[in-house]
Amino acid sequence: TLEVIIIFIAAYLLGSIPSGLIVGKVFYGIDIREHGSGNLGATNTFRILGKKAGFIVTFADILKGTLATLLPLFLGLDIHLLVAGVFAVIGHMYPVFAGFKGGKAVATSAGVVLAYEPLMFAIILIVFFICLYISQYVSLSSMIAGLAGVIYSVILEDPPLIIIVSIMTLFIIYRHRANISRIIKKNEPKVQWLRKH
Ligand code: G3P
Repeated sequence: TLEVIIIFIAAYLLGSIPSGLIVGKVFYGIDIREHGSGNLGATNTFRILGKKAGFIVTFADILKGTLATLLPLFLGLDIHLLVAGVFAVIGHMYPVFAGFKGGKAVATSAGVVLAYEPLMFAIILIVFFICLYISQYVSLSSMIAGLAGVIYSVILEDPPLIIIVSIMTLFIIYRHRANISRIIKKNEPKVQWLRKH
């Protein structure tokens, strides 16, 4: 059990690595939490720092979830892989290395799914981009992608997957409270890089 606790702490610490803050501070001298939506995530990195930084942070945040999920496997520990993944997502949202002010759980949760069920990751990604194309809201697309993940895991009839994906989707929705009220008030920013007006 000590090993299990160490894995959970390691996964949390991995998730806590604030890639958006590191990229912003080191290469641009900017704390992206002081700009745009104030979120420490890939979307706000794209918004504030542009494509190159955005892709790097997206990749790094997905990787955190993937590596954390594979951690028990690397160490040959008999705990359910997905549980370690959740600790990375918690680290991403409440990072000890960045004053507990982190992101909205999207990319890191996607990384957890990628490690466990790559086909599901691909399907969720497609749902995300279809929704993004139609709505132009990254936030709404993230939440719908989470819900699609819940539906897909129910179809797969994999109880641990259903539970963990549901928890991650609840995290995602909870962390998008401000976005939800902006969507309702119609002042949530839309993305322009998928189609021209
Ligand atoms: O990456 C999270 C995304 O769904 C919303 O981010 O910065 O628009 O609140 P943001």
